[in-house]
Amino acid sequence: MKIPAAKVVFDPRDIARVQELVAESLETGSLTLGPVTGRFEEEFAARHGAAHAVATSSGTSALEIMLRTVGVEGGEVVLPTNTFYATAAAVLHAGARPVFADISRDTFALSAATARAALSPETRAVIHVHIGGVVSSEIRDIHALCEERGIPLLEDAAHAVGCSFEGQFAGTFGIAGAFSFYPTKVVTSGEGGMILTDNAELRDEYKIYRDQGKAAFLGGEHVRLGSSWRMSEFSAAVGLVHLGRMDEAIASRRRAAHRYDAGLDPFPGLRPLIPPAPSVCNYYKYAVILPGDVDRDVLKKVMREEHGVSLSGEVYALPLHLQPVLAPYARSGLPVAEDVCSRHVCLPLYTGMTDAEVDHVLGSLKATMRGLTDRVG
Ligand SMILES: Cc1ncc(COP(=O)(O)O)c(C=O)c1O
Repeated sequence: MKIPAAKVVFDPRDIARVQELVAESLETGSLTLGPVTGRFEEEFAARHGAAHAVATSSGTSALEIMLRTVGVEGGEVVLPTNTFYATAAAVLHAGARPVFADISRDTFALSAATARAALSPETRAVIHVHIGGVVSSEIRDIHALCEERGIPLLEDAAHAVGCSFEGQFAGTFGIAGAFSFYPTKVVTSGEGGMILTDNAELRDEYKIYRDQGKAAFLGGEHVRLGSSWRMSEFSAAVGLVHLGRMDEAIASRRRAAHRYDAGLDPFPGLRPLIPPAPSVCNYYKYAVILPGDVDRDVLKKVMREEHGVSLSGEVYALPLHLQPVLAPYARSGLPVAEDVCSRHVCLPLYTGMTDAEVDHVLGSLKATMRGLTDRVG
């Protein structure tokens, strides 16, 4: 049995619906920022309990737009060190300095304590990243800390479409939240992003920024340093249709994840990332911390070559404060993130994964761990 690291799943009926929407766009000539994008925005906001949504060309541009609107230029932005490169790159492109913070081992995310430790009088924003779709039970404490210091809390919810804690959705805890629809994500539009906010003034600013900083779609007056960050109607068609399957996709992924939870329970030394109760996690990733003596690269190679199981990418293998291109912002004293990053794996998990596939991964992991431990012993 071959198990891929991830899978893009589109039902044939959904493919037909996308084709219809694309045909309508081509017939009307409305190819960008048209009615399909408008519907995608409305439905996305409604599904996440937010007042407004603004579609963008990518999750990265969504982050940069949020940051520019807050006015971070010349200051510092606090973010966890175990996030995707784009979170930090957006900070730099918006003219600020990234300050990398440590994380909690329980959530792979900032805690109120690690965020507080990274604040300074220069802090212009904090970005919380919901790693693997897990919304931390400390998210409200982090929000309270930011409020107390008068610092805007932004969310990188690229992993967290449809995720919630105590009924409140990721992307709605701070002043705004950015999502990604890159193909590996639980809801995809091919390429694309979305910003959620409850603030109508911010929404209007986001619309200006995403379209070359123009005051109005048809005008020629450029009032902000925006860029070409629009979403095409074709991407919106894919995203709108895929969003319609979000609940089904999350239910399917949760089923597989709970089977992993039960199957991993008797494994000594393996520690899965468990979402807090009561929350909904989309299991964008199913991360497991390995015992310290297991070589991750060897484990991945054996799983792939001897069992046909491809593990999905880590979140993340190398923390950003150790990435070569971010060397000017390198820091010491982030021990939890360094440890978590160096010794976790992400088991394959995709929409529609069968019990037999989950069991094959569990059996392969068990056999591989046994083999590696024997080799070490
Ligand atoms: C945490 C995180 N932030 C930002 C991004 C950037 O999103 P995009 O690839 O849509 O630009 C991604 C993903 O791909 C991500 O995983």
